[in-house]
Amino acid sequence: NSRLDEITKYISASGGKKLRPALVFLFARALNNGHLSSNHFYLAEAVEMIHTASLIHDDVIDDAEIRRGLLTIGKKWNVKTAVITGDFILARALIKLVSTGGIATEVFANTLNELCIGEIQQSSQKYKIISFKDYIKKSERKTSKLFIAAAECAASLTPCTNNLIIKAVRDYSLNFGIAFQIMDDVLNFTDNKFKTGKPAGNDLRNGILTAPVLFALDEYEQKNDYTLKNLINGKFKDKKDFNTAFNLVMKSRGICRAIELAELYIKEAIKSLDIIEDNIYKKALAELAVYTAKRDY
Ligand code: FPP
Ligand code: MG
Repeated sequence: NSRLDEITKYISASGGKKLRPALVFLFARALNNGHLSSNHFYLAEAVEMIHTASLIHDDVIDDAEIRRGLLTIGKKWNVKTAVITGDFILARALIKLVSTGGIATEVFANTLNELCIGEIQQSSQKYKIISFKDYIKKSERKTSKLFIAAAECAASLTPCTNNLIIKAVRDYSLNFGIAFQIMDDVLNFTDNKFKTGKPAGNDLRNGILTAPVLFALDEYEQKNDYTLKNLINGKFKDKKDFNTAFNLVMKSRGICRAIELAELYIKEAIKSLDIIEDNIYKKALAELAVYTAKRDY
């Protein structure tokens, strides 16, 4: 279909970090002397396509203008086209997954279930001051689960795997995913419109309360200062309310503490790799986790 062809080319050209395929290839090679099978390529393609489909639908939900520096499909074409394109890419990804045989289809069915729950959890908790436990749980669903699926299936497609290895692969991906999401939430506070396509503080503006805000709320509460809490509870009804709230977060140690939290998860991720024998791919997995806290987009 020429329309779908045009749109999928537009999306492919927009780049992206391709982190999920990187996990597929690095774990596969770390566990099997550098070897990859054709199924690993199908898996890597499928996971990036599922991620892309989820972002297309996420942009519809958020009514987002820009993704990866380009207009979103909803803005360049229209929202109906964005919905069907997301469905189409998801369907094509599932065809690829089925062709890998093994556990991939079942693992990804469960993962998609979790992704949807994470996304709806986020939409239904707007302006709600959630606990850290709920914030981490949501990040696990929205982000870690897809990393886990990619890495676990990659490992299971190698001949050199056992339950302990699978647990290590899952633990790495879980902690890596949480750290990645925390840093994504931190980056949302920095003025990086050019790189991420989003104005600083966009999550807060939309009532999505992430680690920097939760830490800031905690800090102000300890000083009996409820200004930030009241502005959030009032859903920024006055025009200047969002700016005041944003500045309060920036003045607090919220961002700093969020980065420290991400670093703890990164350390955990790296520790999980201990039982895998040393090689350049394992080293790259550790470096990838460290990079997560240093990236600027
Ligand atoms: C982006 O997060 C969104 C996700 C990680 C998950 C979105 C999931 C769905 C829409 C449900 C699954 C749908 C399909 C088609 C598989 P973010 O909003 O924190 O990041 P952003 O700032 O880049 O938008
Ligand atoms: Mg979003």
